[in-house]
Amino acid sequence: MKTRNVSTINNDHAFVEIQGLCPAIVYVKIEALNLAGSVKLKAAVGMIDALEREERIGPNTSLIESSSGSLGVALAMVCAERGYRFTCVIDPNTSEQNRKTIEAMGAELVVVHQRDENGGFLGTRIQYIRQRVADDSNTVWLNQYANPANPAAHYDSTAKSISEKFSDIDYLFIGAGTTGTLMGCKLFFRRYRPETKIVAIDSVGSVTFGFPPSTRYIPGLGTSRRPEIFDPEGLDAMDRVNEADAVTMCRWLARSHGLLLGGSTGSVLAGIHSWRDRIFHKDVVVAISPDLGERYLDTIYSDAWVAKRFGEKPISGDLSFLTGRIAPAVPGTASPPR
Ligand SMILES: Cc1ncc(COP(=O)(O)O)c(C=O)c1O
Repeated sequence: MKTRNVSTINNDHAFVEIQGLCPAIVYVKIEALNLAGSVKLKAAVGMIDALEREERIGPNTSLIESSSGSLGVALAMVCAERGYRFTCVIDPNTSEQNRKTIEAMGAELVVVHQRDENGGFLGTRIQYIRQRVADDSNTVWLNQYANPANPAAHYDSTAKSISEKFSDIDYLFIGAGTTGTLMGCKLFFRRYRPETKIVAIDSVGSVTFGFPPSTRYIPGLGTSRRPEIFDPEGLDAMDRVNEADAVTMCRWLARSHGLLLGGSTGSVLAGIHSWRDRIFHKDVVVAISPDLGERYLDTIYSDAWVAKRFGEKPISGDLSFLTGRIAPAVPGTASPPR
C-alpha cells in the first residue's frame, strides 16, 4: 500500500484577515494550501474515498470526469497517487496550464470540440462520458454535480474546520459552482451552528439560482445546468455578482493587500462588499477562498484580457466601480435602497 500524504497535506486552519470590504473584519479561509492548489482536492479525495469504501473501484477501473480546471488537476493528482487510470474530458476553453498539469500527472485528456444546443460544451462533454461508460463497464463517472460524496467532503472538513476556528460566526459567504462546498457547509451549519447566516454567491450568467444563462468567462462559480446536489432550503440568501466586479475585487486585493487570489474569491468578496450596509463592525464574517491567482495571470490579471471582455474600469481595481448587488434569488432578501 502506497502512502497517501500527497493528497492529505493541507492547512485547513489558514485564514487571512481582510479589512475595507465592510465594517467588520472578513476572515478568508485559504483553500489553496494543499498540493493540488484548490478546494477541489477535497471533492476529489471524497469522491474516490467513497468509491473505495463501497468497493466500486479496483485495479481495472478507469475514472472519468468532465472538468475544465481545478477538479481535473485534483483528480489527476489523487489518481496518480493511488494508481487509478483517469480520463479528464475538457473543451477548447480549458487553459493551457491546466491541460499540461493534468497530462503531467499521467491522466488522459479528451478535448471535445462540438458545441451543444446551448452554445456551450458541457452537453457534449457529458454525452461523450455517457458513451464511454456505456462502452466500458470498468469506466466510472465521478459526476461531481450529482455525487453526494462531494458535499460530504466539505461537511467533514471545510465546515468543521471553520466551526472549530470561530466560536461565533454571524455570516458565512460561500461561492456556488457544483455547490459541493456550499451544500456541505450548509448541512453542517444548519445542524450545529444555526445562528450563522449563510449567503451563497454565484455569477451573473449562471442558472443555479433560477436565472437564465448568459456568457461567463471566469471559471469556478456558475453552471449552465442546475446541479443535482443543490438545494436552496436553509440558505439565508442567494446573491449573484457580475464577473466585472469579481475582476475589480481581485485586482484591489492584489494591490491593497498583496493577496493574489482566484476569480471565484473575487466574486465572493464582491458579494460581501455589496452587503456592507447590513454588516456591523462587531460581526464575525467568514468567507471561503477556493484558489490562488497564479492560474489567472493571463486572464483576470491581464489588462488586455480584462479590457476586451469587461472594459477599462475593472483594470484599476478601484472598489468605487463595483456595480453592487444584483437581483437576489430569494424573496425577502432584497437590498435596502442605496
Ligand atoms: C476555482 C473554483 N472556485 C470555486 C468553485 C466552486 O466550488 P464548488 O464546486 O464546491 O461549488 C470551483 C469548482 O470547481 C472552483 O474550481
